[in-house]
Amino acid sequence: MIDTHDAGITDPVALEIRAAEGRLVGSNGRYEKRLSELAGLYRDERAFAASLAGDSGDPVYWVESSDTQRGDGALITGISVLEPGRIGDEFFMTRGHLHARSECAETYVGLEGEGVMLLETVDGRSEAHPVRPGTAVYVPGGWVHRSVNVGTGRFSTLFVYPAVAGQDYDIIARAGGMRSLVVADVDGGWSVRDNPDHVGYRA
Ligand SMILES: [Fe+2]
Repeated sequence: MIDTHDAGITDPVALEIRAAEGRLVGSNGRYEKRLSELAGLYRDERAFAASLAGDSGDPVYWVESSDTQRGDGALITGISVLEPGRIGDEFFMTRGHLHARSECAETYVGLEGEGVMLLETVDGRSEAHPVRPGTAVYVPGGWVHRSVNVGTGRFSTLFVYPAVAGQDYDIIARAGGMRSLVVADVDGGWSVRDNPDHVGYRA
């Protein structure tokens, strides 16, 4: 019998998704973002300062992922969990990114809560897709993407993307934020409006 370990074949991984707890049991990586680490993400600086003054210091979002295989052909599997909340009229959101290897795609599956996947290309296309439990969104290569929690509870998604993809977070900051903002409506819903600070994406 051939020993596949000698052939460089990675062991399979079984993961347990505990969406309500925001956990991916069996994962091997985690990062967290606290409000204090998100200065400049939201347009309303006074609202951000007021929220920070009363902040508990708990993470506002986190990612747990499994990346035991590396290199071409490998996938990273993880969950992204966003607490509910707003800064001014903008809902809590992830920083967002374009994959460093921009041709790399990603699939997101809604696990818990109500969210929006905000998607933009560098040449001006913009889309906002609602994500609920059971919704799958395929993010093709070339799309800047961000998760936004528009609900009143936690918003969590499962994601799968190529291990070689990497992330360029700075492209959004250099552009003055994403082109579109996901904001609260007076009727309790959400809508999309233009971000007046957006100056276009540059390489
Ligand atoms: Fe991504």
